[in-house]
Amino acid sequence: MRVGVLTGGGDCPGLNAVIRAIVRKGIDAHGDTIIGFRDGWRGPLEGDHEQLTVESTRGILPRGGTILGTSRTNPFKRDDGPERIRENLELLRLDGLIAIGGEDTLGAAHRLNSDHGVNVLGVPKTIDNDISATDVTFGFDTALHVATEAIDRLHTTAESHHRVMVVEVMGRHAGWIALYSGLAGGGDVILIPEQPFDIDEVCRLIRRRHSRGRFFSIVVVAEGAIPKEGTMEVADGEVDEFGHVRLGGIGQRLEQEIERRLGFETRAVVLGHIQRGGTPTAYDRVLATRFGVAASDAAHEGRWGTMPALRGTRIELVELADAVAELRTVTPEEFAVAEAFLG
Ligand code: F6P
Repeated sequence: MRVGVLTGGGDCPGLNAVIRAIVRKGIDAHGDTIIGFRDGWRGPLEGDHEQLTVESTRGILPRGGTILGTSRTNPFKRDDGPERIRENLELLRLDGLIAIGGEDTLGAAHRLNSDHGVNVLGVPKTIDNDISATDVTFGFDTALHVATEAIDRLHTTAESHHRVMVVEVMGRHAGWIALYSGLAGGGDVILIPEQPFDIDEVCRLIRRRHSRGRFFSIVVVAEGAIPKEGTMEVADGEVDEFGHVRLGGIGQRLEQEIERRLGFETRAVVLGHIQRGGTPTAYDRVLATRFGVAASDAAHEGRWGTMPALRGTRIELVELADAVAELRTVTPEEFAVAEAFLG
């Protein structure tokens, strides 16, 4: 078989482990030829590719990022996008394509498969952990470790200076990184996109800590967290090809607002892309490898339009349609665990 592979959307620790697994399993067990497309959907749109071999993918397992490059190119932003992709796959005599990505990449993969009959399989990645139909996406564990370590470090400096430290973590629509790093790092306030926050309540929690003799606080805020309407002004950002606003800035706003309202010295730290860079944790390497092997097998079974998913401890194939129907966000019940530890 001749199989294409691409990585799309924001990069994520573990992408190279999936690529390596597809190459190793595909070539060694199935006798495949693997073609890697560069920079997400730009690769198959423009025919920009390279052959991947066992030799060319040696040593990539612990490497962050993606050897194929990535982009947020949306193939449906061009009228002839699906046709160009089909033609380029045909030119390269590919039997199908494995698209490794998050909500946007998988959404495009699903449309290409269901509306245009292109043989595409998905593999779920994102540090945000917000893809439905899988319990976990690879990359999340690494981002969580980075965020937790940062909170641990900020604790000691916050305590020494009797300051409020606001830690802005990633999470556009889902607060998994904020919630889990807040739980793991002992955050005193945790703000997630799923639950618009009330700045009065944030300040009440911090004041309560002070009244109990704890003169420092850690506020963990997801970049996509928003104040309740009419309670605090925030600036709008630019929009990308998939219509997502470029976030960042809520930490800074909270810093100003907390200091203004409470008079406590406050500092904001934006973790940003540090959470996405660098070597994946062992957990992410293993999950990514299992996904890659399952995707290679699925291609050989002709299971186009599906995606390997973690269900409990098992890897199962799920329909891409189910994976992209809606985002997997934090429910009030899941957030409730944190409530006993706030303030
Ligand atoms: O989708 C993953 C993610 O890391 C989000 O958490 C974040 O909002 C976004 O990507 C940032 O994208 P970019 O790297 O394009 O600024």
